[in-house]
Amino acid sequence: MSPVAKPLLATVRRERQGRPPLWIMRQAGRYLPEYRAIRETVGTFLELCYTPELAAEVTLQPLRRFELDAAILFSDILVIPDALGQTVRFEHGEGPRLEPITPDGLGRLNADGVVEHLAPVFETLRRVKADLAPDKTLIGFCGSPWTVATYMVAGRGSPDQAAARIFALRHPEAMAQLLDLLVDASAAYLIAQLDAGADVLQLFESWAMNIDERQFAQLVIEPNRRIVEAVRAAVPDAAFIGFPRGAAGLVPAYVAGTGVNAVGLDYMMPIATADASLPAGLPVQGNLDPLRLLAGGEQMEARIEAIIAGFAGRPHIFNLGHGIVPETPIGHVERLVEIVRRGR
Ligand code: CP3
Repeated sequence: MSPVAKPLLATVRRERQGRPPLWIMRQAGRYLPEYRAIRETVGTFLELCYTPELAAEVTLQPLRRFELDAAILFSDILVIPDALGQTVRFEHGEGPRLEPITPDGLGRLNADGVVEHLAPVFETLRRVKADLAPDKTLIGFCGSPWTVATYMVAGRGSPDQAAARIFALRHPEAMAQLLDLLVDASAAYLIAQLDAGADVLQLFESWAMNIDERQFAQLVIEPNRRIVEAVRAAVPDAAFIGFPRGAAGLVPAYVAGTGVNAVGLDYMMPIATADASLPAGLPVQGNLDPLRLLAGGEQMEARIEAIIAGFAGRPHIFNLGHGIVPETPIGHVERLVEIVRRGR
């Protein structure tokens, strides 16, 4: 137990607060001029992720500007394929590019050096922890195996994840092997993040949509469950926020099947549906549409109030329903923080 209460961590552990604690998905990033200034000093995005001094600074930037309740490690979900030996690049303005993995190419991935390769990430966490006020929660994270696999197979982001879905259907054994590798690498990575000071872990299953319930059980629930189990075998009280974006009617199955402590809701999820279909007392996180934050004004304020009121009966962490977009005006974020801190 930490000597000073951390409201966000307490909420993940099922204690309701007077007001919902708050963080913002992708809170460190291009909407902040101070982020863009640091980004310009390094050649590549991955270099920023692997330079602890800069990554720690970027992690803390949003907390210097806004009264948020958590810092989230500055890194990316694609450091895992990088650490496994796949070529990963981030093209300016285009998003990630990887050398696509084929069923025959799986043997070239090597899990042995993952934790060593990611040593700079753990150093970033130690630096952030040393600087962070004791009432702030430090969030570590990884991409969930299926989501990471969609990038590894397609070599890039895609609207429907068709390449990975076809791979999974045509080569189920190879997909199972790839997910096994990702479960093991991710669990080791998360255990090392807890060791380095992370208070809670978020599993980003950003592509939990576009698959049927049978594939959802195999590709989403089972690998997430195995990560939770493996991490808790090493750190029994490890706390998880699962974020199965787009899972819709399968969110309750995700929660029951994985054992996460709290669930992140995307902005498509109706408040009343979530509240009625999830177990009483289960903490939820979300779920403002990032474009409402971008547009700002009365529509934003009304929706923030509706979300706070709608989840008032259970532990709730206020957040967006997906990442903040680079065009978001900083004044709108200030207003969001002000309204949420006013409480219910
Ligand atoms: O502030 C934070 O949230 C911490 C840092 C963080 C980043 N990526 C930094 C980043 C986190 C938690 C992520 C997670 C991530 N990365 C996800 C899951 C969340 C989600 O949005 O669904 C995914 C799918 C990725 C993969 C990824 N990384 C993509 C698709 C892109 C390109 C699109 C984009 O937003 O540019 C990235 C690059 C990336 N990751 C940037 C940042 C700040 C922008 C790159 C730059 O600054 O040059």
